[in-house]
Amino acid sequence: MNSPASFGSDNQAPAHPSVLEALARANSGHTPSYGADPWTERAQELFRQHFGPHTRAFPLFNGTGANVLGLSSILRPHEAVLCARDAHVDVDEGGAPERFGGFKLVALPTQHGKIAPGSIEASLGYVGDPHRVQPRAVTISNATELGTVYGPGEIESLAETAHAHGLLLHMDGARICNAAVSLGLSFAEITTRVGVDVLSFGGTKNGLMGAEAVVFLREGLGEEFLFLRKQGMQLASKQRFLSAQLVALLEGELWRENAAHANSMAQRLAAAVARAPGLEIAEPVQANAVFARLPKATIGELQQRWPFLVWDEQANLVRWMCAWNTRAEDVDAFAADVHAVAGKFAR
Ligand SMILES: Cc1ncc(COP(=O)(O)O)c(C=O)c1O
Repeated sequence: MNSPASFGSDNQAPAHPSVLEALARANSGHTPSYGADPWTERAQELFRQHFGPHTRAFPLFNGTGANVLGLSSILRPHEAVLCARDAHVDVDEGGAPERFGGFKLVALPTQHGKIAPGSIEASLGYVGDPHRVQPRAVTISNATELGTVYGPGEIESLAETAHAHGLLLHMDGARICNAAVSLGLSFAEITTRVGVDVLSFGGTKNGLMGAEAVVFLREGLGEEFLFLRKQGMQLASKQRFLSAQLVALLEGELWRENAAHANSMAQRLAAAVARAPGLEIAEPVQANAVFARLPKATIGELQQRWPFLVWDEQANLVRWMCAWNTRAEDVDAFAADVHAVAGKFAR
């Protein structure tokens, strides 16, 4: 079944053929269940190579599970998480943090989807007040929900501010491959080496069929995560199939190639539509998403032909997302349609 090209989400892309081949290779014979298999051991080794020797990675099914369990593993019942106001964990996880994690999220103001150290400090005025929830962690998404990327200096200053106040830094890395490639840096250079404590590592948006991991980057963290993952319903009995996907992504260059392609298609799209009448590129294009503002009528007509997300109805803000399999000719055809439709309504 062949469906038309989509700019709806990197989740709408298929799994990369080499991931399917890795799954087929893993699909042979009996192997110990619940993570005691050789694929999980190899994935663990690869996470240590990419992130540093103290790394402990726990494969699981999805990003919401990774965020909710990763964060709740570092919080006590009266503690909270500071996040960006656009954070997926706050606005797009269906109340899972509140219901299953049992923690409160405190949304901070953003610029281009990013928070700044000053807004962390500004939200600490009530520390020690028993009537107030006590912040214990800061979470940032890299790449952000708005397709921008925190550089290592920005992450380091957020980590320094968080640590100075006894808070830990969590990164939602649903698109960490896109962020690392955009910066031309290794995973460790944007996480472990700049003070990130816990990471939700994302693979699904970058060519996997469905596998993510909670990754603890410091000694002393995640000691009880084995139990929490099971209790949190994210322990796969046939874990070899999650781990085999992560191995396929991290063993060679697949993580980099897939993300580099998706990012370059977003650049191509942004450049191609930038001069369409009435269109404004709304956010810096630094990963695999293009955010644009354009007249409502243009959005409506384009949506009849191309799947994409209206991010903010009131603001006429749309998101066009590229993926590892986005074809240059589809980008060009879409951009030509954007020009044609925008031109029609501009007349
Ligand atoms: C920033 C971010 N974090 C996490 C997720 C993970 O979501 P899911 O639970 O659908 O895998 C997503 C998916 O859209 C996302 O965009």
